[in-house]
Amino acid sequence: MRALCWRGVNDLSVEDVPDPVILNDQDAIVKVAATTTCGSDLHLIDGYVPAMESGDVLGHEFLGEVVETGPGVDRLKKGDRVVVCSFISCGRCWYCEHDLWSLCDNSNPKPGIAAALWGYETGAVYGYSHAMGGFRGSHAEYVRVPFADYGAFRVPDGVDDETALFASDAAPTGWMGADLGGVGEGDVVAVWGCGAVGQMAAQAATLLGAERVIVIDRFRERLDMAERHIGAETLDYTATDVGAELRERTGGRGPDVCIEAVGMEAHGTGPQHLYDSAKQRLRLETGRPQALREAIQACRKGGSVFLLGVFVGWVDKFPVGALMNKGLTVRGAQQHGQRYIPKLLDLMAEGRLETRQFATHAMGLDAAPRGYNMFKHKRDGCVRAVFHP
Ligand SMILES: NC(=O)c1ccc[n+]([C@@H]2O[C@H](COP(=O)([O-])OP(=O)(O)OC[C@H]3O[C@@H](n4cnc5c(N)ncnc54)[C@H](O)[C@@H]3O)[C@@H](O)[C@H]2O)c1
Ligand SMILES: [Zn+2]
Ligand SMILES: [Zn+2]
Repeated sequence: MRALCWRGVNDLSVEDVPDPVILNDQDAIVKVAATTTCGSDLHLIDGYVPAMESGDVLGHEFLGEVVETGPGVDRLKKGDRVVVCSFISCGRCWYCEHDLWSLCDNSNPKPGIAAALWGYETGAVYGYSHAMGGFRGSHAEYVRVPFADYGAFRVPDGVDDETALFASDAAPTGWMGADLGGVGEGDVVAVWGCGAVGQMAAQAATLLGAERVIVIDRFRERLDMAERHIGAETLDYTATDVGAELRERTGGRGPDVCIEAVGMEAHGTGPQHLYDSAKQRLRLETGRPQALREAIQACRKGGSVFLLGVFVGWVDKFPVGALMNKGLTVRGAQQHGQRYIPKLLDLMAEGRLETRQFATHAMGLDAAPRGYNMFKHKRDGCVRAVFHP
């Protein structure tokens, strides 16, 4: 089959790779109908996630048709149209049973690297390095889906592919940020990053009762999209002092909940950005936490900061003093998709959750390197490139 392979930093190619086969009774094989770029892939392409190997198949956000099931699969059958969670989770370990699906104890067959980095390994992700399991990704014609009864969800008839596709990763990630970030009735929520993940966090915050949602980015077309589809307020960080502006807009108090949806490759202005860029290139810090610092600094006293943007290791000048003295709650997580996907599909079917607008560019798999180039540089208003293998 054809698949998009990582060959090295900024080097992608579409190649022939072996077809996947059922390896475990609980596996299914899914024929991919649509698969999309994610900001997390940029961290792989740019070389900031360890344990990538030449030839690894990329992609983790996808939807397709079940074409084969192992004898241990009970809830799915051949022909089902399913969206598959980007995280692979067993459904039976302590973490899965406590709804902390991305922390699954059983899905990562190569736990050594993650355990060395973080103290304990986490669950596995499709196409996301050998630290996260070394599974083949979804930018391919077919994917092996382990623990299929837990990871693949039947899509309701009324929901089209380009809407349901984002229930795999972007939508549950954003929803988790608002939910576990503790957004409640009447809150003011600020979201850094206006990609699909930030926009989903903003949309979730609105649905969870936030009174005002302010989204921060520098790309006008992304901010316009958030205004149009969510009714969010927007803020261009290159045109204004974000902290001062948020204070001004909140009567001097600051946002109740701050959600960071930018991650380890934050863009920035000024000397701090140059410092972070140089240190990251020299691997003296593994991420550029500009947006995270800003979120902690801007958050109201006693407020909550939720980190959705991906980081892998260590960062400098983490504002621990602000965290401690302002009594903040700071949390982060990889997405617990299995916890949210059924509810998100229902909201999509009711027309209350909009995701289709993210699919700004559709193309065949052979054009995927061009799609990633466009997505990485945010050219031509690209929010997400969607590949149809
Ligand atoms: N926690 C999870 O499970 C999970 C899942 C999916 C994605 N992610 C992460 O979420 C992040 C966003 O993903 P995406 O697909 O939306 O990516 P994206 O690249 O489309 O969007 C990131 C946005 O952040 C903006 N940005 C950069 N620097 C900024 C700054 N200093 N302040 C404000 N905005 C800034 C960029 O302009 C861009 O629009 C990535 O780090 C990705 O790895 C996490
Ligand atoms: Zn992702
Ligand atoms: Zn598990």
